[in-house]
Amino acid sequence: MKLIYAGKAKSLYELDEERALMEFRDDLTAGDGAKKARKAGKGALNAEISATFMELLREKGIPTHFLDYEAPNKHVVKRVKIVPIEVIVRNIATGSLVRRYPFKEGTEFSPPIVEFCLKSDEYHDPMVNEDIALALGVVSSREELAKMREIALKVNEVLREFLLEKGIILVDFKLEFGHDSEGNLVVADEISPDTCRFWDAKTKEIMDKDRFRRDLGDVLKYYEEVKRRISQN
Ligand code: TMP
Ligand code: ASP
Repeated sequence: MKLIYAGKAKSLYELDEERALMEFRDDLTAGDGAKKARKAGKGALNAEISATFMELLREKGIPTHFLDYEAPNKHVVKRVKIVPIEVIVRNIATGSLVRRYPFKEGTEFSPPIVEFCLKSDEYHDPMVNEDIALALGVVSSREELAKMREIALKVNEVLREFLLEKGIILVDFKLEFGHDSEGNLVVADEISPDTCRFWDAKTKEIMDKDRFRRDLGDVLKYYEEVKRRISQN
């Protein structure tokens, strides 16, 4: 199969004109690739978790690139042109937000905060405003950014409610978007413990990639627990 693109944790292979196969690898990185590890089984866990979330979004009428889950570690996806903007939604202050601004760790936001960041390891994913995104040519209009914001907030509502029923707090997450062959804006990439922050609703234990970023240990044990909880009815 022809490799289209290899990122830090996933590889994309061509299936045909319209579809690609996205492989979730066992690689883990943090700090824009500065810290690296490989954990056997991580790719399969993220593929399964992300498939559950993508199917949930589909049920709720939110367009995504997801077509099918091919166990253990692949998704069949629509080929899209990725918008090089990361859209971050935050319900609770933590991570880079409390390092960059005088927010107190744990502050709850209502309404949530949406941030647009340029997808660039070289520049460390800097936050961009509408003018910068337009001037860089990474989006074609202000409406496109508004649409990304609107979909991201809808995704937040859907995931937040679903996860809370499973005893998990959705602290924040990152989304990527793409345009399909008809020009529709769709949610792309993955939604997993690598790209979200999850806290146990009771104990507030960290159940996501912060375990790796902060050397807290038991990374896969917690990914496994996220998978177990979200696959229960
Ligand atoms: P941050 O607090 O480090 O800015 O991260 C916010 C959220 O975005 C968190 O859920 C992790 C996720 N994220 C990614 O998925 N990829 C990235 O490159 C970064 C910086 C954050
Ligand atoms: N962009 C970071 C990396 O993979 C990921 C992160 O810290 O979330 O290096």
